[in-house]
Amino acid sequence: MMKDTRQQFSKITISLHWSVALLMIALLAVGIYMTENKDYSLYGLHKSFGVIVLVLALGRVFWRMKNGWPLAAGNYKGWEHKLAHAVHWVLILGTLIMPVSGVIMSSMGGHNIPLFGIDLIPGNHDPANPQDVIPRNVELGEMAEEIHEFVGYLLIACILLHIAGALKHHIIDKDGTLMRMKGKRIDVE
Ligand code: HEM
Ligand code: HEM
Repeated sequence: MMKDTRQQFSKITISLHWSVALLMIALLAVGIYMTENKDYSLYGLHKSFGVIVLVLALGRVFWRMKNGWPLAAGNYKGWEHKLAHAVHWVLILGTLIMPVSGVIMSSMGGHNIPLFGIDLIPGNHDPANPQDVIPRNVELGEMAEEIHEFVGYLLIACILLHIAGALKHHIIDKDGTLMRMKGKRIDVE
């Protein structure tokens, strides 16, 4: 089944949602951990999985443009729809802004962008001191760093709100919202 309907979501929607969700939550946690502890051994993995998120998130945005947003499973007040929809927008845009700002921050700082073994963008090494890198554009790099940090914390708040919403639908309203995102066909009135 290719298109999302109110009763059932497509496999594309479901697989993109859960793969991006898992990677985003892990990258937010690893990003904060490695920055707080200056654990540079994790930077390569953080960047590589971040590049994967960029590819998946671009696919997701095209899918949403082609397919529209899913219709709500239940009948709710206008403000509830508006809040859920606004949070979905922040989440989907955040999955683009995070990897793009990450790539700009690292490459403009003179660092490399690896995809596991291979360098997509090499580090700008100083010929006199090959272990040091020379920034490519300090201002742009610092601007991207601030965006990466601010949007990261904004996303954590929005993801918590999003999960609280999903649990409210499941536990309090007892509607099919969560089950539909888990791939089940649901009844809607
Ligand atoms: C345990 C974590 C999560 C749960 C339980 C969850 C649950 C859900 C559910 C039930 C929906 C369907 C809403 C509806 O039918 O209107 C949904 C949609 C959505 N979720 Fe999540 N979600 C989680 C994590 C995330 C994360 C981490 C992101 C992104 C950073 C995210 C982004 C979205 C977006 C953009 C939608 C809109 C539909 C779509 O584009 O696929 N979710 N989520
Ligand atoms: C795609 C999802 C991504 C998420 C959710 C994410 C999240 C985060 C978070 C929360 C931090 C900690 C920010 C702070 O407290 O200062 C961080 C740091 C960092 N991220 Fe990402 N990131 C992503 C992708 C990327 C990508 C693609 C790159 C580079 C190619 C990247 C490079 C970095 C670097 C270098 C730091 C450390 C900055 C510092 O040392 O001050 N990130 N990330």
